Parts: sequence; C-alpha cells; structure tokens
Amino acid sequence: MRETVPERPGSRQPPGTGPPDRGRPSLADPFRIADVEIPNRVLLAPLAGIGNWFVRLQAKRFGAGMAVSEMVSSFGLHYGNERTTTELMRIHPDEHPVAIQLFGQDPDVMRSAAEVAARSGPDLIDLNMGCPVPKVRKTGAGAELLSDPELALDLARAAAEGSGLPVTVKIRSGLMPGDRSGFDLAVRLVEEAGVAAIGFHPRVAKQGHKGFPDYAMARELNEVIDVPMIISGGLSTAEASRRAYEESGADAVMIARGSLGYPWVFAELTGQQAEPPDRREIMDELLWVMDRAEEHIGPDRAGRYLRKFYPWYLDRIDVPKLVRNELCQTAGIDRAREIVAGIRDGEPVLA
Ligand SMILES: Cc1cc2nc3c(=O)[nH]c(=O)nc-3n(C[C@H](O)[C@H](O)[C@H](O)COP(=O)(O)O)c2cc1C
Repeated sequence: MRETVPERPGSRQPPGTGPPDRGRPSLADPFRIADVEIPNRVLLAPLAGIGNWFVRLQAKRFGAGMAVSEMVSSFGLHYGNERTTTELMRIHPDEHPVAIQLFGQDPDVMRSAAEVAARSGPDLIDLNMGCPVPKVRKTGAGAELLSDPELALDLARAAAEGSGLPVTVKIRSGLMPGDRSGFDLAVRLVEEAGVAAIGFHPRVAKQGHKGFPDYAMARELNEVIDVPMIISGGLSTAEASRRAYEESGADAVMIARGSLGYPWVFAELTGQQAEPPDRREIMDELLWVMDRAEEHIGPDRAGRYLRKFYPWYLDRIDVPKLVRNELCQTAGIDRAREIVAGIRDGEPVLA
C-alpha cells in the first residue's frame, strides 16, 4: 500500500536542499481554516477503514496539526445506521481540531447527515469529491461529482447549512488524463459555495493512487483561490512531504499512506523528532494501537481488524518471515500481543 514516489525527472532540485520560498511559513507554523486555528501545517489525510478516533489521536500525539476522519456515508448518518452513528462519529476530546469527512450525492441527505455529524463536535466538515472507487463513483459520489459541478456546489452548501460549520472539500484534479474538471470545480466551490479550504490531490481519478501528483497544477490552484490549499498525494516520507509543500506552494500537507505504521512522520515534519524510532518504540506503539482497538470494538472484532495494521509496523523493522506470518494470520488479540511483545524484546515467540 505504501508507495515510494521516485525522484521526478527534471525535478527542480534534490529533495530538501533548496532554499524555501522567502517569507513562506514553515510546516510547524499555525494557520487557520475559516475561524479554526490549526497549530501546524501537517495533517492526517482521510483514510477509509483506517482513520477512526484512535488513529487520528495517534497522529495528534505525534504532532499532527489536525486529522480528517475516514469517509463516512451521509446516508448511514441520515438513516441512523448503528455503527455509522456510534463508532464512526466517536471523537476523543484530545483530538481537536478534527474534521469529519462525509460522502454522498444527495443534498437533502447531506444536509441532514451534516447536522447529525455536527452533534459529535467536529471543528470542520470535509466533503469527499475524490474517491475513485467504482462502488462509490457509480452512486454519483466521490470523484464522480466532478462531472456534475452544480450538484457538487449544492452538496457543499447543504453540508454548511446542516452543520453550521465551515466546510472543506477534498478533491481530485480531474477524472481522466488531461482533464482539469477538479481544478475548475475547486475554484467554483470556494467562490460560489463558500468552501473554507481545498484538499487537493492532483492525480486524476483514473490514476487511483499511483503516478506522479501534479504539484505544478496545485500551485496554480493556490494562486487562484483565496482559502487554504492543502496538498495530498505522494507524501510517502517527510522528505517527499517537504518537497511537495515547496513545489505546490500549499498552505499545508496532508499525509496519507506515509503515516501508516509510521506516525513519527508527524514528529519529523513538525520538528519534534529527528531520529528514527527503534524496534522497541515501534512495537510499543503498535501495542498502544492494539489496546485502543480493543477498547473501541472489543477483543474479537479488534483481533480481526488489526490484521491489516501489522504489516505497516512490521515493514519498519526486520522480522523473521515465520513470525510475521503468524502475527498477520492470528485473529486472537491476546496471542497477537504476545507476538508483538516478543518482537519488541527480541525474542519472537512461535507456537
Ligand atoms: C487505504 C486508503 C484509503 C483512503 N480513504 C480516503 C477517504 O476516505 N477519503 C479521501 O478523501 N481520501 C481517501 N484516500 C486518499 C488519501 O487521503 C490520499 O489522498 C491518497 O492516499 C494520496 O496520498 P499519498 O500518495 O500520500 O498516499 C485513501 C487512500 C488510501 C490509500
């Protein structure tokens, strides 16, 4: 899942070596989205099936200025789906500022969903206009909204009316190579629907999550809109994120896959940590995640849910294949804890 974006041919200068733009704020400096003060410019991107309260809290503990939730169905909120209204709306008091991301394609449902979401106390509502997944697009939501700008504008207005909160939009640059419909829509969302910030992922939907993001196009967008532009895409490491920040001229960066199993990226980017973590720290952090998952959804569901988390952490250290396989296959959280503690202490336990 993690992607390393190679050096771009013709890239202006080696990463991190060029002088920053004169007068440009550092990533550790605060900024505002509407009236919401964000303590720094390094944010956690929305990650479906991942960005729940404890993953967001983890990002925050490591210094992220703000985290955006995983995308939440506006229909699920509107119709009172049990898990959507409880689990996905859970916000830890230490998370603020935090944004809840909604997706959908019906303005009335969006208005109602935004009202429900606002009751959980987020600081912002973010709308998903970038999801390239066919299951979402075929409903008319996510990136599909790029082909219906009027509907997209109505959705943004409805979310603001329902929630009474500033609304931001995360959007792709287009649908197909060469298409700039996302760029044009981003400008209209700000000018005609009062959107308070744009999270810009300058890859077209057809690209999914592969290929070079077009940071030059992001820079162009930032010159046109008068609200913050937050860059997403290709931020696989602290170095790549700094480069994207400079190349795109963004107001902030939004880390996605680069944070999986590596929340230290937030500390590196906000100047709180220069040294990479060792095996013990990485495994202790995984144990923290496991405890929170159990607290959130109970031991049985957590045991299964956590299996996708293990490789992200194990990729950061050297672990024998047999041990890795056992951990990734076990659905029992107690057994998984024993294995992780064994890895941490350098004594991998095998059954
Ligand atoms: C597993 C996964 C889940 C994602 N879920 C969402 C989501 O719910 N909402 C959204 O706007 N973007 C979502 N994205 C897109 C990311 O927020 C981000 O824009 C994308 O991964 C590009 O950044 P990166 O190249 O630095 O990973 C997701 C990406 C991945 C890999």
